[in-house]
Amino acid sequence: MAIPPPDAILQGAARILSGLLEARTGQILSEGRAWRMETALRPVLRAHNLRDIDDLAAQVVRRRNARLEEDVVNALLNNESSFFRDLQVFDMIHRQILPRIQEDRQEERTLRIWSAGCSTGQEAYSLAIRLRNEAARWSGWRIEILATDISSAAIEQARSGIFSQMDVQRGLGVGDLIKWFEPHGEEWRANAELRRMIEFRQDNLFDPRAPSGEFDLLLCRNVLLYFTAERRQAVLHLLARHSHAGSVLLLGAGETMIGQGDDFAPHADFRGGYAPKALASNNADRAMRGVG
Ligand SMILES: C[S@@+](CC[C@H](N)C(=O)[O-])C[C@H]1O[C@@H](n2cnc3c(N)ncnc32)[C@H](O)[C@@H]1O
Repeated sequence: MAIPPPDAILQGAARILSGLLEARTGQILSEGRAWRMETALRPVLRAHNLRDIDDLAAQVVRRRNARLEEDVVNALLNNESSFFRDLQVFDMIHRQILPRIQEDRQEERTLRIWSAGCSTGQEAYSLAIRLRNEAARWSGWRIEILATDISSAAIEQARSGIFSQMDVQRGLGVGDLIKWFEPHGEEWRANAELRRMIEFRQDNLFDPRAPSGEFDLLLCRNVLLYFTAERRQAVLHLLARHSHAGSVLLLGAGETMIGQGDDFAPHADFRGGYAPKALASNNADRAMRGVG
């Protein structure tokens, strides 16, 4: 039997492993990550005592080791995140979106936020920090922050609240670091008060169990990028089902809703934000009532 050249073997293994990622998460491996596949999988090879990625792909094909499959998926997911990523978005949340929600929900006094595809939690912690820094304004309110991600490793880290020096240097101001984090060996840990504000859950946007009810603010940033158009629509549909007329959806910079179905429309008031289609009439109502 002719032995295929190394390139062909690599392509075969890479295809199997990226196929596993897509089947489990819907994510299509970006070209850049496909290049770095071997590096990303090195810790998995070591942990499972495997020779190389061909060996790994062969194990995956046999489908006998659920832990191995989960480790591969975790290693191949792009978990890139940072505190206050795209600062202007957090400024808009703080200065415009939250005041509007607060006005709308004056009677219920509840604020529900869903960070969908939260990775290691920086987005949710950034929101919690802004809310805690304005504790007086939210006194008497019930605030829920749900943060979900398919990666068990990312959720575990998010829940621990432990971040490296490099992580905290990316986006977190010194004042917030000192106020909300404690030294934890060489690293930093979000303090208990901050951790208590967020419920982290492992969940798949295509097989969701976690969310229940409606959210006032939904963030699904830098998640849809590597889904097919069909899957993107399915996620937007899910987010719409957990929205009400006054909800605001935020996607990542560079992610657009154009051609992504009928669930959301660009928000009339919040640049880059989206509103469930029903909000159009709600906004007209507000305008007629002179509510700004
Ligand atoms: C690039 S990170 C974005 C993190 C954060 N939202 C931000 O913008 O900083 C994308 C996240 O989406 C998660 N993800 C990918 N597919 C998913 C799925 N099917 N269900 C839930 N989360 C998923 C990945 O695990 C990853 O943590």
